[in-house]
Amino acid sequence: MNILLVGSGGREHALAWKIKQSPLLTRLICAPGNPGMAGIAEVRDVKPTEVGRQVELALEIKADLVVIGPEVAIEAGLADALAQVGIPCFGPTAAAGQLESSKAFTKAFCDRHHLPTGQYRICDDAAAAKAALAHFQPPYVVKADGLAAGKGVVIAPDRAAAEAAIDDTFGGSVGAAGARVVIEEYLEGEIGSLFALCDGKTSMLFGWAQDHKRAFDGDEGPNTGGMGTYSPAPVFTYDLVEQTRTRLVEPAFKGIAADGAPYRGVLFVELMATRHGPKLVEFNARFGDPECQVLMLRLESDLVPYLMACATGRLHEMPQPKWRDDDAVCVVLATEGYPGPAKAGSVIGGLDADFGAGVVVFQAGTSAGDDGAILAGAGRALNVCAVGRDLAEARERAYGAVALIDWPQGFHRTDIGWRALLR
Ligand code: GLY
Repeated sequence: MNILLVGSGGREHALAWKIKQSPLLTRLICAPGNPGMAGIAEVRDVKPTEVGRQVELALEIKADLVVIGPEVAIEAGLADALAQVGIPCFGPTAAAGQLESSKAFTKAFCDRHHLPTGQYRICDDAAAAKAALAHFQPPYVVKADGLAAGKGVVIAPDRAAAEAAIDDTFGGSVGAAGARVVIEEYLEGEIGSLFALCDGKTSMLFGWAQDHKRAFDGDEGPNTGGMGTYSPAPVFTYDLVEQTRTRLVEPAFKGIAADGAPYRGVLFVELMATRHGPKLVEFNARFGDPECQVLMLRLESDLVPYLMACATGRLHEMPQPKWRDDDAVCVVLATEGYPGPAKAGSVIGGLDADFGAGVVVFQAGTSAGDDGAILAGAGRALNVCAVGRDLAEARERAYGAVALIDWPQGFHRTDIGWRALLR
């Protein structure tokens, strides 16, 4: 099979790494890819949102399957355009992808289809958003409606901070994504990330993990796209998984199909395990980043048949996926300053070190310098991942590998997996 993988982050590097292991693969092309992906696949310089050029590329390479990594390509309508030319695509249409691309859409969707989530107010200007705060208790959750690359959510400890976040968001801190704001109830509990595949009709759970959203150790600092993950995560008891499946996953797939937009791809359910069961924090229309990295390390089954089955309506033919017994950990290394302004272009050294058994290093926001050096972007740059017989071993291996990376301008959290270790 010829596969076109769209995207350039750590999630896509992990997908490429796993797809590459498939005996079904003939040719893997990543667009645009990154230097890490260039080491294992062909890369082409086409942005995820260049829908016409991505379709041309898929036709040129006679793609049997296109796998969409990032949400921006979903919102741009890549799946819709590929359907027009008859190329199977793993990734939902723009209409189904609204479950991620509009927080306001999703809140109304939850009301319409009776999915448990926090109370909320949708606000079209700063005055309305500030007035809405009166209906909530601190900490306040201020969310940009649209896609903001993990930078659209502020958890504000008090009213002044919430009002400042509202002003920033309407003032353009996340661009057009902040033209509308959702003020939400802060949900108490433990966070979890659960994944489910769907081919428009049939659905199947596809693993779970826990992410660390705050920038610094001890869950301090600003929200990020995710600073590290581990899987399996003990928060996902049998009951929580079953409740999530029956109260969130299945009603979501049924609801979006009933609304006229059957879902094909992976749905990422970011949930809070509350005293009253799972409540939806957010849906995402793609694999989590860096959740995907630990899932790919643990997935024993060939990934490609699952992706293809989602794209072609044959998920009912697939067995449950097999997962390794191992635990997996991912530590994200980001440029100092992230998720705020950060200076791109620092050199990352040590990538050719012998990282030892069970370690895989994925690249995220990197580029190749003229001399072949690997340069960091202004955000998350590396995902140092490891498997082990248990979480402690996986962590030890991952942090051992982090110590071999020579990148003074980078930072990382040192406490990935702390909740599981405390249990
Ligand atoms: N790690 C959270 C996300 O991918 O949105």
